[in-house]
Amino acid sequence: MHRRQPTRNRMGWTSNQLNTLSQLFVDACRPGALPVLDLGAAYGVASLAALARGAKVIANDLDAAHLAELGEREGLTLLPGRFPQELDLPANSLSAVHASNVLHFLTGEELTLGAAKIAEWLGPGGRLYVHAGTPYQAPFARFIPEYEKRAAAGELWPGYVPDTRAISSHRKLGQIPRAIHLLDAQVLTRVFLAAGFEIERVWTHRRHDLPKSLHCDGREGVALIAHRS
Ligand SMILES: C[S@@+](CC[C@H](N)C(=O)[O-])C[C@H]1O[C@@H](n2cnc3c(N)ncnc32)[C@H](O)[C@@H]1O
Repeated sequence: MHRRQPTRNRMGWTSNQLNTLSQLFVDACRPGALPVLDLGAAYGVASLAALARGAKVIANDLDAAHLAELGEREGLTLLPGRFPQELDLPANSLSAVHASNVLHFLTGEELTLGAAKIAEWLGPGGRLYVHAGTPYQAPFARFIPEYEKRAAAGELWPGYVPDTRAISSHRKLGQIPRAIHLLDAQVLTRVFLAAGFEIERVWTHRRHDLPKSLHCDGREGVALIAHRS
C-alpha cells in the first residue's frame, strides 16, 4: 500500500513507492556498472530499489538520521552531507545520479555548482534523473502569475521564493523550509545544458501519489533525464 512519510527535518515528504522518474532511474540500474548516487535519498525508497537491481549505491542526505534507517547493506555507501557544498567525489566515478524532490531546496547558485559537480562525477555517457516541484501546485497558486511574469521577462530563477509565507497560507507550510525554489523545464534544461549535459527528455506531470490537496493543473512536477556528453 502507498504510504507517505514526512522527513525528520521538515524537508517535505517521501514515499514508500517509486515515482515515475525514480522508476526510470531504477530500471536503468544494473550490476557491474559504476556506482549510482542518490541525492536527498531520505529513507532510501530509490536507493533500496536500485540496490535490489544489483547496482552499487551511494545514498546521500542532509540528515544523517534518515540514512541511518537504511542500516548497513552490501553495495550501499551512506554519504550524509549538504549537496553540493559538502559533497566531493572522484571525477568519472559514477554511472548515474538520481535527484528526486531535492533540487527545489537549492538556490540558483547551488544548482549551478551542483550541476557542475554532477557533470564531473559522471563519466561521459553517465546519466542524470531529476524530479522537482513546480509553481503549479495548489498551495502556491497565488504565486503563479508572478512566476509567469518573471519567466516571461527572462529572469534566471523565476521560481525562487525566499519566504513561502508571503505566497501561501497552506496549513502544512511548516513541513517545508521557508525558502523554496520551484523549478520548471526551462530552468532545469538551461542549468544542465550549461554543465555539459545532453537533455533526453524533460516533461511536467502530476505524480500518481501526489496528495489531492496539492493538485493544480497537471503540471505539479517536472522531470528531466539527461546524459553527460
Ligand atoms: C522531499 S524528500 C525526497 C526524498 C526522496 N528522494 C523521494 O523522492 O521521495 C527531500 C530530502 O532531501 C534532503 N535534502 C534537502 N536538501 C538537501 C541538500 N542540500 N543535500 C542533501 N540532501 C538534502 C532532505 O533531508 C530530505 O530527506
